[in-house]
Amino acid sequence: MRRSLIAAVALTALIVPAGAAQAAPPDTLRSAANGAGIRIGTAVDMSALAEDEQYRTLVGAEFSTVTAENVMKWEALEPTRGVHNYEPADRLVQYARAHHQKLRGHVLVWHSQNPAWLTEGDFSPAELRQILREHITDTVTHFKGKVWHWDVVNEIFNDDGTWRDTIWYRTLGPGFVADAFRWAHRADPAAKLYLNDYNNEGLSPKSDAYYALVQQLKAAGVPVQGYGVQGHLATQYGVPQTTLENLRRFERLGLDTAFTEVDVRIPLPADSAEVQAQAQGFTTLLQACLLAQRCVSYTLWGFTDRYNWVPGVFEGEGEATPLTEDYERKPAYRSIRDTLRLAG
Ligand code: XIL
Repeated sequence: MRRSLIAAVALTALIVPAGAAQAAPPDTLRSAANGAGIRIGTAVDMSALAEDEQYRTLVGAEFSTVTAENVMKWEALEPTRGVHNYEPADRLVQYARAHHQKLRGHVLVWHSQNPAWLTEGDFSPAELRQILREHITDTVTHFKGKVWHWDVVNEIFNDDGTWRDTIWYRTLGPGFVADAFRWAHRADPAAKLYLNDYNNEGLSPKSDAYYALVQQLKAAGVPVQGYGVQGHLATQYGVPQTTLENLRRFERLGLDTAFTEVDVRIPLPADSAEVQAQAQGFTTLLQACLLAQRCVSYTLWGFTDRYNWVPGVFEGEGEATPLTEDYERKPAYRSIRDTLRLAG
């Protein structure tokens, strides 16, 4: 067992509420992850959760943490300036509580899925900073005590390690990052605060930029607590080989680490070699998590091809999750489960 047996037993007695054991049937990712000492998660599509009973059952049975796929993004929370819609996100909070799951809050500051009133508004730097401050404070306060991790800033660097040109960077400069973490921490000191990005698994100019940033933030006393690796892979690009080394260097800076949005897309039609390569992609990232010291969770960005963002965004690619459209288990599902079991 990865964490000591005594610690795991003591922890189970202390924190697992009555009924949690029933929530993890034996042959599931969830029970295997319990044994391995990490949380296993999925992004949740709220329409599917409402309309599809099988989906709803599987989210509860298979996962011990959930992330809102869309309903906690700014455009969903505040479509009209000053008019908030927390209802869909609150439904996920309720679902997670009923199923003894942790919630990853996604996302406070991003360049995408922002409301039009914000992106099309003509705000001065001072106004924009105040708007961001209010958004972070209001959102984190609303969900206070209910969110385990917040993805505070998402996708702030380009792959070459330079700052991404966003409304935030352009208008406020790099200081928006420290501000965002401080405001979030003030609103909910118990939530763990994460950086989050894609193509940041292994050692690279992009992860180097994060490493330098974390050093600066830490030196300035900014409350940054986690390094989030989205983990959007594609079979045609192979699997990053230096992921464990990268996680470890962030852990040495005092951060927790987490895989936050894992999927492995395939150019369609998929052949059996690609289906195996996909399983390998999921497994390699999971093994890095299990071998790291402070990797606390491994979240899938959707668990079934029935509801998945990939075909709409990457033309000609898809089948990126461990279950088929009919909820059949693929090699990836079995490989994730068995890798977790081996670590347990
Ligand atoms: C995606 C959702 O899955 C889609 O439904 C939506 O249309 C666009 O956003 N990185 C992120 C996630 O941080 O929020 C994105 O989610 C996928 C890429």
